[in-house]
Amino acid sequence: MSVDNTNIVDLNIKKDERVLDFRDFQKQGIKFDIDKLQEAYNQIVQIKKFEDAGVTHFGAISLTQIPGDPDSVKGNKARGVYWTKPDKSGKEVTRDIKIDESQYSEFIKDYENTYFKEVYDTLSKNFKLGRVRILLKEPRSTLSWHRDPEPRLHIPIITNPGCLMVIDNVAKHMPADGSVWVTNNTKYHNAFNGGEENRIHLVACVLDYKFN
Ligand SMILES: [Fe+2]
Repeated sequence: MSVDNTNIVDLNIKKDERVLDFRDFQKQGIKFDIDKLQEAYNQIVQIKKFEDAGVTHFGAISLTQIPGDPDSVKGNKARGVYWTKPDKSGKEVTRDIKIDESQYSEFIKDYENTYFKEVYDTLSKNFKLGRVRILLKEPRSTLSWHRDPEPRLHIPIITNPGCLMVIDNVAKHMPADGSVWVTNNTKYHNAFNGGEENRIHLVACVLDYKFN
């Protein structure tokens, strides 16, 4: 990737630090049908409500569960452990509970007749997946500044130009065009929706992806 850094004017940044590095956002060589993704989303919200997992302006619908265990996707299991720096001390704290992602190997039967099953089968052939969820970010809202245990795979389904993910000090909009991204959520990051419509992404935990 070539970057034109001649327009960067912040002279407080040393010359060799002026180039933005997007390597924590990696577009994959797989593409899905965005119309079918949106149709599948419309189908599942007819049959399932979002879990808020105790987080404001956030919702999750799990597409996978621990085999035979519907409770494995309820409550704060819709979220999972993360680390955040909540106050002026800058000290890191742990939030929520650790989840054994590798156990989430069963695609939930209620959604088997949607396009998400085909998407899940294709993704499973290419990645070692943990939980696969449909995540909602409400308008004019943000997550905490946090890091997660593993990288995450994103397929934007509904988005708007005011939806950005920030990793470290680099921000990127991921368009809803059927593309698949893997993002380095092991670094501190955030996602916000500055638009006036919901942001909907399919998000999967990826257990075998290495960033360098
Ligand atoms: Fe995260």
